[in-house]
Parts: sequence; structure tokens; C-alpha cells
Amino acid sequence: MTNRLTINADSSAGQISRHIYGHFSEHLGRCIYEGFWVGEDSPIPNTKGIRNDVVQALKKLNIPNLRWPGGCFADEYHWKDGIGPRENRKRMINTHWGGVVENNHFGTHEFMELCELLECEPYISGNVGSGTVQEMSEWVEYMTFDGVSPMAELRKENGREKPWNLKFFGVGNENWGCGGNMRPQYYADLYRRYQTFVRNYGDNKIFKIACGPNVDDYAWMETVMRDAHRFMDGISLHYYTFPGSWENKGPATGFTEEFWFSTLHNALRMDELITRHSAIMDQYDPEKRIALVVDEWGTWYDVEPGTNPGFLYQQNTIRDALVAGITLNIFHQHCDRVRIANLAQIVNVLQSVILTEGEKMLLTPTYHVFDMYKVHQDAQLLQTSLQSENYEMNGKSVERVSASASVDAQGRIHVSLCNLDHSGAADVEIDVRGLAGSKLNVSGTTLTAGAIDAHNTFGNPDNVTPQAFTAFELNGSSIRAKLAPMSVTVLELAQA
Ligand code: AHR
Repeated sequence: MTNRLTINADSSAGQISRHIYGHFSEHLGRCIYEGFWVGEDSPIPNTKGIRNDVVQALKKLNIPNLRWPGGCFADEYHWKDGIGPRENRKRMINTHWGGVVENNHFGTHEFMELCELLECEPYISGNVGSGTVQEMSEWVEYMTFDGVSPMAELRKENGREKPWNLKFFGVGNENWGCGGNMRPQYYADLYRRYQTFVRNYGDNKIFKIACGPNVDDYAWMETVMRDAHRFMDGISLHYYTFPGSWENKGPATGFTEEFWFSTLHNALRMDELITRHSAIMDQYDPEKRIALVVDEWGTWYDVEPGTNPGFLYQQNTIRDALVAGITLNIFHQHCDRVRIANLAQIVNVLQSVILTEGEKMLLTPTYHVFDMYKVHQDAQLLQTSLQSENYEMNGKSVERVSASASVDAQGRIHVSLCNLDHSGAADVEIDVRGLAGSKLNVSGTTLTAGAIDAHNTFGNPDNVTPQAFTAFELNGSSIRAKLAPMSVTVLELAQA
């Protein structure tokens, strides 16, 4: 059997929100400190303390939004500790992550500065677990109120005259776990109360995100939707991919073919989770007003040997590139409900797009997938049908090929194709129907590697990088493409 993809170029299936290409930054390990923040006196070139190389690389990805300050850290974070002259800010222990000193040098002003440099929307997670309603309410007032008020005055005293635009606000994080070990009915009531005081000041309209379930906790989704859906714009879902179990996740490099397969098999579970959570949401929100916000996703492995176990630092291989490609394809297919998502985490933690070591920086295979896929941001998803061969191991089977297609504002069609198979190439017949033009010009980019754990190192930063894709034949409106084993490919079809 050959793999067949039919694309209906004249049939849109909804818009792919650019916000599914969001990222996540937490006060965890070397994400904020070293990954972004080096301080104004650092020899590493920086703008107001934020390193230039990382900002420059991330800007190329057209990052739409950045989530901060956590994660579990968010429900222990008291924002007033992170404002005012840095030398006066409280020093404390980051009890959740690594037991290291948190000097609060990166706070609200620094985060907003970072978002301005990245030209992305801020997504702030508020503290429900250990913070008060007043504290949350005042934070929003501090950031967004333009007028006479105690918090606006305080902001001005700290050097920021005008308020910032704040688009996304999460009311708590993982309140079923590190955010307070709550039961859903209790959280739903707290959500209703806290969100009341997350106010819209002036033109700033906040998109309020409730804490949703962990993985397949359908009871949490059911209860929070039932009791609080009227008060939210979005509800989160967290799902991480492990090759093994929570206790024994498996290494980021030097893994077996079985772990290659189980990683991709487990990543594909995202489709089932979204489908089933969406079905519950549909009961309370049939118009799909409320977004499913997958604001933590990605791979989670054992930490790199010799590193602080609380820092969650891991390498990133061609396997991670496949996880990124197939997950983004799943999000595209669910673009009616999944309208925001955040890969965990942006620099030096879990499935990062960037790793740093002192003044050095490298782009991971996952970075390259986000770069290749950015053409889908805000594009119209096209209706497709895919017939795929199976890829099997140890009695388990997945589809060998994952695909999605969209058309952008200029009429260019982009097709993203992943070959999950670690050893076999995949031939794909692509039939494009309903084209507006009479002729197609096809070009493409592909990311592949020669080993299942191929990755970039500070000594060899370009080991896994995208190449021009030429392994295709065009015949009218049909394309026959040969996808290399373990590859992610994006085709551009320009209509003349
Ligand atoms: O991303 C690491 C942690 O995973 C986050 O802090 C938490 O929200 C989740 O459990």
C-alpha cells in the first residue's frame, strides 16, 4: 500500500490560530536565569539584561505568546517580590525547582520587556494556590490600569509610565496538583471568585484561562466546565510525552528503537485527549466560544547525567522534532477548539527550542520544526484525507505518516508531512484538488538525521538542520514525494 494524501484546496476547515505556536518560560533551572536573563553587567551581549542571541533566534520563529512565571512556580510566586530596584528585591529559595536562590531580578517589568523585544503577547499565570484575590487583582491593575490608582502609581514609580497590554491570564496552574491539590468543585468556585477581580481596564481585554485537567482527567474537565464555563475564555490541558513511565522516563539520547517508537506512540495520544475533552466542552459550549489551551506539552525525559534533577535539563534530538511535527499536525486538525498552546519549555528545560551554555547557544531540532511550520500560523486549514501505511513495533501500531495542509493569505499551500518510521522511507502520493491556478510550483524543506538520537551540540551545532527537499516528482496537480526515514518535511505549493 502507498500512502495517499488528498488535499481539497478549495475547502477550508477553519483557521489555525498562530497562538498554538506559543511557548512557556518558568523560573525553573536555567530557563529564566541564563536562558534569558544575564543581567545588564554581563559580558554576554544583552538588552537591559536580556540576552540578544536568544531573542534574535526566537524572533525568527514569530513567537505569538509567551507564558510566565510558571508552571508550579506560578502558585508560589508573589509578584511584588519582583518589582522595584533589583538590589532591594527579596532573595529566597526556589523550593519547587532545584532548591536554588531566586533573587527576583527577573520580574514583571523584565518579563514585559522580554515580550516587547520578542514582539509577542504576554501570557501570565496568576497565583491561586498560595496567593490572595487581592494580590491577583492588584497585579492586573499594576500591569494594565491607565489612571489614578495605587498600583498604577507604584508602576510609574518603578519606571513604567504607560500600562502594558496583557492579553492572556491564567487563573492558577495545575490546581489539581502543585497548585493546591484541589478537587474540581472547589477549584471551580475559586476560579469564579478570583476571575471576578481580573478586570478589564480601558481597552485591555483579558482572555481568562481556567485551570483544566491533567491528561485524561475527564471528571475535572466535566466539573469545571459545568460550574464555571460562563466565566472563562479558555481552559487548559497539560499533557507530557514520556517514552517510559513517570518514575522511569528514559534518556534523551542513547535510547533504544523501542523508546523511539513508544515516544511517538505516546505523543499521538494527544489526538484522543483533545477529542474526548472537546466532546465534554461541546456539552457546555456547543458554539466553541471557549478555547482548549494546551499550555504545557512536549517531551519529558530523565535529566542529563550530572545535572541538578530539579532543573529538568534534557537534550533534544530528531525524535523531539518528530514529536513537535506530529503534535502540531494534531493541533491543526483540531483548530476549531485548540486555539492556544505552549511548548514546555522555551530554553534549557524539557523540550526546548534553544539550549545555552555560558555565552554559547544552539538551536535544537525542535526549533527547526517550529521554524519550518511557522507558515501555518493564522493560515486556513485545508480539508485533507490521509491513507497511511502502518508502522509497527512489539505488537503496537501507529500510522507511518502524519500530515496537515493549510493555505495562507497569499494563496500558497503548505503541507507538513512527518515520516515516523525510524528505518524506512515513506512514499506519499499527494493529490491536490480544487486548485485556483492551472500550474503548481513546488518547493520544500526537510529535517532528518542518520541516527535516532541525532542532536546538536555546542561543538557541532548544525548536525541536525533543515535541507532543501528535492525527493519529489510533480505531475499536474499530483506530487509523488519520498520522505526519508524519521523526517519532518514542509512543502510549499505556489499556484500560478
Ligand atoms: O514544566 C514543568 C512542570 O510541569 C510545570 O511547572 C508544571 O506545571 C508541570 O507539572
